[in-house]
Amino acid sequence: MPRSRTPRRKVTVIGAGNVGASVAQRVVEAGLADVVLLDIVPGLPQGKALDLAEAGPLLGHDVNVMGTNDYADTADSTVIVVTSGLARQPGMSRDDLLLKNAQIVNSVVEQAAKHSPDAVLIVVTNPLDAMCHVALKASGFPRWRVVGMAGVLDAARFRAFVSMELGISPVNTCAFVLGGHGDAMVPVPRYSTVGGVPLPQLMPQDQIDRIVQRTRDGGAEIVSLLKSGSAFYAPAAATAEMIESILEDRHKILPCSAYLKGEYGVEGLFVGVPVRLSRVGVDEIVQVELNDDERAAFEKSAQAVRELVDTLGGYA
Ligand code: NAI
Ligand code: 2OP
Repeated sequence: MPRSRTPRRKVTVIGAGNVGASVAQRVVEAGLADVVLLDIVPGLPQGKALDLAEAGPLLGHDVNVMGTNDYADTADSTVIVVTSGLARQPGMSRDDLLLKNAQIVNSVVEQAAKHSPDAVLIVVTNPLDAMCHVALKASGFPRWRVVGMAGVLDAARFRAFVSMELGISPVNTCAFVLGGHGDAMVPVPRYSTVGGVPLPQLMPQDQIDRIVQRTRDGGAEIVSLLKSGSAFYAPAAATAEMIESILEDRHKILPCSAYLKGEYGVEGLFVGVPVRLSRVGVDEIVQVELNDDERAAFEKSAQAVRELVDTLGGYA
């Protein structure tokens, strides 16, 4: 009998820490693609991959999952997720991580891109928008094949807080978050809804303001509770949603960090905006009308990202 030679879809996850291993788990359990988990620490990705594979008989997943320290094993990936780097510790801002993580992202992306020249790169490592610049340069990929995960997470947090405050299911909430993944991110209540009803019609302004601020502080809130390390369940779920939209060509509109060339009046910068995600990566940057306050907040957030990028030197 002829045996199938069709290559299966492959997702590489670089960094087998909390976020990376959880992303691998989501992809494997959803049966979306074979998964290669890569880390610099010998044994770590191999151990986690084997553990995931051993859950297969119980959970009914049958994709291949391997752990490795060798980039050759990542060859011909459709999607590469970059989570390698240092996580935030209590008292440490996302920005403190800048140069250390730039060095790591530059090195891992250079190696991974060589083996998978047609992949879509999803960057997760912080500080997120700045690391997208590093990945764009290190990969040499076109801008639509480098995209950052942050807005999907920030919007999920916004939705979770709305559902907690209103005592309703988070399922039919929808949230809109713009800007960089930093303290100046811009949740936009006017475009956030519950059952199609805009948030300002459901809550007083002071309650909305509280939720907006909690969303901005969402990462730090988890860090201060965990004491060591940062969030990973929701970040992994957010990354998996992006992976699925790319692999399955779903064309979901999701808030992601994308390289703007004039869109929203921003030139040459990764910043969070709504994009359509499909097999090609970012296949459209969706531009929506902003009022004066929203525009000012977006510009302030973009400026904060630009200041970080300016300190990246040769990495960006
Ligand atoms: P972690 O410390 O659990 O895992 C990081 C992994 O990267 C470790 O296993 C480490 O060995 C590996 N690593 C370090 N240098 C490497 C290299 N040169 N090559 C390959 N692997 C290398 O950290 P965690 O919690 O998984 O977070 C990872 C990153 O994601 C951090 O920068 C964190 O701030 C960021 N993050 C970003 C979010 C976002 O919304 N964009 C949300 C959550 C985390
Ligand atoms: C977060 O928002 C640490 O950026 C990460 O959880």
